[in-house]
Amino acid sequence: MATPILGIEEQNEVLTRVGPGTLMGNLMREYWIPAMLASELPQPDCDPVRVKLLGEELIAFRDTSNRIGLIQNNCMHRCASLFFGRNEENGIRCVYHGWKYDVTGQCVDLPNDPAGSTHKAMIKATAYPCIEKNGFIWTYMGPRQTPPPLPRIPGNELPEGEELVSAISKEYNWLQGFEGNIDNSHFSFLHYGHKKPEDYAVGSKEWYVVKDRAPVVDAMDTDYGVIYGGKRVAEEVPGLVYWRVTQIFMPFATHSSGMQYLAHVPMDDEHSLLIRTDKKEFAHFDPVHLPNTDDWHGRFRPISNRDNGYLLDREAQRSGKSFTGVGGGISIEDQAVVESMGPIVDRRGEHLVSSDAAVLRFRKRMIDCAFALADGVPAPGVDNPELWSYLAAGHVLEPDDLSLSEVAERIHGLQGQKKEDWDLASIEALRT
Ligand code: FES
Ligand SMILES: [Fe+2]
Repeated sequence: MATPILGIEEQNEVLTRVGPGTLMGNLMREYWIPAMLASELPQPDCDPVRVKLLGEELIAFRDTSNRIGLIQNNCMHRCASLFFGRNEENGIRCVYHGWKYDVTGQCVDLPNDPAGSTHKAMIKATAYPCIEKNGFIWTYMGPRQTPPPLPRIPGNELPEGEELVSAISKEYNWLQGFEGNIDNSHFSFLHYGHKKPEDYAVGSKEWYVVKDRAPVVDAMDTDYGVIYGGKRVAEEVPGLVYWRVTQIFMPFATHSSGMQYLAHVPMDDEHSLLIRTDKKEFAHFDPVHLPNTDDWHGRFRPISNRDNGYLLDREAQRSGKSFTGVGGGISIEDQAVVESMGPIVDRRGEHLVSSDAAVLRFRKRMIDCAFALADGVPAPGVDNPELWSYLAAGHVLEPDDLSLSEVAERIHGLQGQKKEDWDLASIEALRT
């Protein structure tokens, strides 16, 4: 079905609803999803974890043979929660009547059925295939019998010990959080509004962001989703401009700065988990977490949160120590403003301007792809894992009238040469 003409309210419904059978939920299920951190399941037969993902209640467990299971919450017998299950001998056993499931969801023991019964062979719970890689557990929730290849993400292929993986839970719909990741205009205010160019090295990303707070922004569709770029005058030399480009990877990820991969994973329509991988040296950006709880939304809650007013310090705001006065770091500044919109923002109240070009383009791309998928058109990039390897970058380029597609071609071309061997030193040199 071609994309119908939709009002803002209808667009919002399509974009924000991710449960089973929804247009956006179906599109997202075409892709591998970073569901959780591997550290949440620290060893074989450890405690199961409640995981809310795309509106589904799931139980994650690591079996005796180190395989990861992500299985429906409700037991196939009489629907007791498998969270209470015993994780033992390569399966999770419901404590109500003892039915046991392996990581594929297959019932492997049905002890309250008479001897000789073949009933268990017919019992198979919904369970999603998982791959553990460099600190993430990825899952595929889509319809294919054989899942597509896992996307190649540089930060998820770092040598052991160099990678940093982290997560923060957010009390809002995935899209409004993700729109913060693809809007580099806000950096100049929310995070750097109190800074001056002389606070930074000439030519650094921060220097440009502070020096010119109103770049010319453009965005266009790509094979992996959308790319957008901001153009700023580079120096006082005619003809030189600074372009900063960022890739938006379907369905909800971006490389925000060099190798920093950020995914705004929907837990349900009103909660998300921001999952991130980067080099360990950037750990200082991470907020401090409360201890995880067993609640569906109890994982990775930051200490600075809505309940304590995000530790807002008006004196810090007034004195210029910080633009916002919000306590807990950059990530909490994002959290405070995005949660302040409400769990699902009513976009009828928006007045978008040219700096919102990427936001608009991405919304349209997602809606178009969701309707196209319903028509049988494959989701973009699903079968080409190499596309996920492009990194955000900033470059001084000339002439000053390059189009975004020309800029993208140059920067992607440069990075494309590095993809085969993951020459990390060279990739890192592109980080600005
Ligand atoms: S409800 Fe799980 S075994 Fe009966
Ligand atoms: Fe931000």
